[in-house]
Amino acid sequence: MTTVIKNGTVVTADLTYEADVAIENGVITAIGPNLKGDTELDATGCYVMPGGIDPHTHLEMPFMGTYSSDDFESGTRAALSGGTTMVVDFALPSPGQGLHDALQMWDNKSTRANCDYSFHMAVTWWGEQVFNEMESVIKDRGINTFKHFMAYKGALMVNDDELYASFNRLAELGGIAMVHAENGDVVAELTAKLLAEGNTGPEGHAYSRPTQVEGEATNRAIMIADMAGVPLYVVHTSCEEAHEAIRRAKMQGKRVWGEPLIQHLTLDESEYFNQDWDHAARRVMSPPFRNKQHQDSLWAGLQSGSLSVVATDHCAFTTEQKRFGVGDFSKIPNGTGGLEDRMPMLWTHGVTTGRLTLNEFVAVTSTNIAKILNCYPKKGAVLVGADADLVVWDPEKEKTISASTQQSAIDYNVFEGKHVKGLPRFTLTRGHVAIHDGEVRTQEGHGKFVKRPGNGTVNRALSTWKELTAPRPVERTGIPATGV
Ligand code: URP
Ligand code: ZN
Ligand code: ZN
Ligand code: ZN
Repeated sequence: MTTVIKNGTVVTADLTYEADVAIENGVITAIGPNLKGDTELDATGCYVMPGGIDPHTHLEMPFMGTYSSDDFESGTRAALSGGTTMVVDFALPSPGQGLHDALQMWDNKSTRANCDYSFHMAVTWWGEQVFNEMESVIKDRGINTFKHFMAYKGALMVNDDELYASFNRLAELGGIAMVHAENGDVVAELTAKLLAEGNTGPEGHAYSRPTQVEGEATNRAIMIADMAGVPLYVVHTSCEEAHEAIRRAKMQGKRVWGEPLIQHLTLDESEYFNQDWDHAARRVMSPPFRNKQHQDSLWAGLQSGSLSVVATDHCAFTTEQKRFGVGDFSKIPNGTGGLEDRMPMLWTHGVTTGRLTLNEFVAVTSTNIAKILNCYPKKGAVLVGADADLVVWDPEKEKTISASTQQSAIDYNVFEGKHVKGLPRFTLTRGHVAIHDGEVRTQEGHGKFVKRPGNGTVNRALSTWKELTAPRPVERTGIPATGV
C-alpha cells in the first residue's frame, strides 16, 4: 500500500520545491514529480513539512501535589491536531528513586501515545546510584539528555556541586546537560518576602521570578558546563538576560542552545496584572511571561540563530487544580498548555508577519531539535528513508483558538480568542493520517519510543579552563646524540 501526498510544495529546513511524496510502511520511499499511489492525499496550495517535534512536555506528571492533566493520550492527540508528530517528555525520579525505576513509570504511561515520543531523564537528586545508572540510560535506553532543575528549592532543585558532578559524568558519557535556569534560592527568598507582605495573588508569582534570576542561573549553568566540558541545552529561555548569556557562549565557541516557548513569544506579563484571579493563575508558569522587550529579544534570537528551538513546556492544569493556590501564589501548580497551538501560533506570529521564513519555521519547530537530540534524519526531515511524520500545512486555513474545540483535557486555553491562519490539512504519524481537516483519526498506542544515542565516549565540545591554561605539549624533534 502506497500513500502519495500530491501537488504540494515540500519545505524543509533548507529547501523549498514542488514534489509529490510517497510513503510505504510508515517511511518516505520517494520524492519527485507525478508519483502514483493506492491512496492519494491532495496537498494543492499546501506546504509539505516535517511534522513538528515538541522537545518539552510534561504529560501526567506528578508535580506540586497533583498530576498534570493531559496524559500521553490526550497530549499526543492535541499535538497531532496542531501538526506536531513527536513529543519528548521528562521522566522525573522522586528523591532517592533510581533512574530506571522512574523510566519504568514513564514507559507504562506512554503506551497510550498516539504519536512517537522520547524521554529526557531528569536528575532530581545526586548519588552513586544516579551516577551508575546514567551509563545504561544513555547506552541501553537511548536517552542522551539529562535535565537539572536550578529552581523549585526543596523539591526538584539540585545544587551547584551536584550540577557540576552530574555535568562531568555526562561529559564522559557523551550526554547532553539540560537546565531549568532560575536561581531557586533567590526565588525562595522573594516568595517568602512577598507572602509576608501580604502579596498572595498570582501576580506575586511574576514578582518572585524577575528576569535576573533567570539570567544569573543561565550564566552559572553555562560556566559550570564549560568547566565540565559538556554541551548545554537551556530550556524555556524567556528573557534577554538569559538569551544574552547563550548568545555570548555561542560566540565563544561553546555548544549551548536556547529554547524559547511559544507562550513567551506571544503572551506577555499583562496576563498577570489587573486580571481576575483565575485568568492570572491559569497563566502561572516558570519562568513567567515577560514584557515586550524580552519578546523582541526572543524573536531576534530565532532569526539570527542564537536561539534554536520553539517548544511548549506543555504542563496543563485545570482551573480547579490552579485554585490550590488561592491565598498563596506559591501553591498554584506551575505550568501552561500549548501543544496544539505551537505550530499555528508560530506560523501566524512568525511566518505571516515576515519574522521567520518558511525554512526557519521548519528549522525551529522540527529539524534543529532532531539534530540536537540525535534522532535526525529519522525525524525532522523530508528525505527518502525518513519516518513519514509529516504535516500538510494549509496557509489559508483559519480558526479562533478556543477551549471548547481543543483536544487538551483542561477547561481553558491560554490562547483563548486568538485568531490563527495556517493549520494542518493532514497530519501523518509514520504514514498514518491522524488528522484530516480538523477531523481526528488518531490511534491510541500507535506511538513508539524513539531512541536517541549519546555521542560515543569523547565529547569535549566546550573549551575548558584546564585545556586553556595547561602547559601545551612540547614538540620534540629528536634528542641530539652528543651533548650540546
Ligand atoms: O511552570 C512550568 N514550567 N512547569 C513545568 C515544569 C518546568 O519547570 O518545566
Ligand atoms: Zn522548567
Ligand atoms: Zn518543563
Ligand atoms: Zn480535505
